[in-house]
Amino acid sequence: MKRLILNLFEMNCVSHITHGLWRLPDNNRERHNDIEYWIELARLLEDGGFDAVFLADVIGTYDVFRGSADTSIRQGLQIPNNDPSLVVPAMAAVTRHLGFGITFSTTYEPPFAWARRLSTLDHLTKGRVGWNIVTSYLPNAARNFGLDGEVEHDTRFEIADEYLDVLYKLWEGSWDDDAIIADRENNVFADPARIRPIDHDGKYFKVEGPHLPSPSRQRTPVLFTATASGAGTKFAGQHAEVVFTGGPHTDFIKRTISNIREAAVEAGRRPEDVKFVTIAGVIVGRTDAEAKAKLAEFERLTSPEGYLAHAGLPFDPTAFPPEAKLKEVTSTDGGIGRWRAFDPEQTVGEFLAGFGDLSRHPLFAVGTPEVVADAIERWLDDVGIDGINLLQYHSYDTARDFIELVVPVLRDRGRLRGSYDPDESLRDRIFGAGDRLPDRHQGARYRGGAHLPVTRLSA
Ligand SMILES: Cc1cc2nc3c(=O)[nH]c(=O)nc-3n(C[C@H](O)[C@H](O)[C@H](O)COP(=O)(O)O)c2cc1C
Repeated sequence: MKRLILNLFEMNCVSHITHGLWRLPDNNRERHNDIEYWIELARLLEDGGFDAVFLADVIGTYDVFRGSADTSIRQGLQIPNNDPSLVVPAMAAVTRHLGFGITFSTTYEPPFAWARRLSTLDHLTKGRVGWNIVTSYLPNAARNFGLDGEVEHDTRFEIADEYLDVLYKLWEGSWDDDAIIADRENNVFADPARIRPIDHDGKYFKVEGPHLPSPSRQRTPVLFTATASGAGTKFAGQHAEVVFTGGPHTDFIKRTISNIREAAVEAGRRPEDVKFVTIAGVIVGRTDAEAKAKLAEFERLTSPEGYLAHAGLPFDPTAFPPEAKLKEVTSTDGGIGRWRAFDPEQTVGEFLAGFGDLSRHPLFAVGTPEVVADAIERWLDDVGIDGINLLQYHSYDTARDFIELVVPVLRDRGRLRGSYDPDESLRDRIFGAGDRLPDRHQGARYRGGAHLPVTRLSA
């Protein structure tokens, strides 16, 4: 029976992806600047049996909708927004098992420093980090890093592919496992013959090496990515171990799963080498009425405008009569914004109804613990996912409710285990096959310095 991978979907900001709800009574979103916020959260999640906290990130503002960042700024929509990786050591210090998925983009900052930061985090967490590889989508992000506009979509994936190649060389190939000798008598800490530069000289990056940190427990952290496009699917098939999927309906999710598994096989891997985790909305109550009352309260506060700004809509549908057809009010056809394609025959009113409607999510469950657990079992068995990134409506009540009410039912049904295995790395928890990348993953080809230039550090 398939066991659920259970992650909390987080972001180091006020309004991540449930816009308007930061205003709920006792919601802690405004405390994201406090280290105590992250410490309390980590303890709660580990006591409750979560596998990981997944930290989204962007490196720019949402300033396309209505031609400015005003809506985002007013609503706390991913601004203010802090660095996701820096809260990880605080959470790791008060936990032993919880994993951490950290989002970082391959498009703007070169790979050497990021490789070093992730190795440091893998050391500090004793092998509990994952990296959500993104290529960034905000035009403002490009302008923040010295460019006039976004790098073209498929080129971003080409850059990401070389970026990963550099990282594998540093993480897997630069140091041998036995490079550290720690011989106090002869003052020899490490053996230069077992540490090598990588001498990478490619189209986008030139990196000499060696890697600065010694090999961490996982070496390469667990590789997550979130994508569905053609270029992204090929990239995920080659690199990703866990794909974070979304989409308008379950058929789309099923298709993404099968396309990426196919791409993984083409890259010499096995279909089961890639796991799929989806955003899931869960509103649970002791009774159906209690759950529905929570949903009603959320619906009262949800902000359709926030979702419009988040989607980066290049036109303002609220400026047109609801009965107008989309094709009459915008010349763009097909994919509007980043998140959804639209039907040009749809009316403005129908189109707008999808924004801020919390129950429209393809994986959404509201009701008693049994109803929610039934839904999760269907997602696992019928849609074919392996886990969820639980959407937060309220911090920390969403996680608390799930832990109190849903976790016991899923444990009874064998869908979640009763306790953590001691001293497990994140990769071992997810795949049950050790701490390191499997041999058939392309990152493994550099092990022991194979496929690297023969330059050595020692004379
Ligand atoms: C569920 C989900 C979560 C995502 N989270 C982030 C994120 O935190 N930061 C980011 O820059 N992009 C994020 N993205 C965007 C993706 O990285 C990617 O840019 C987007 O899916 C378009 O890629 P594609 O054209 O390959 O599908 C996310 C995408 C999905 C589907």
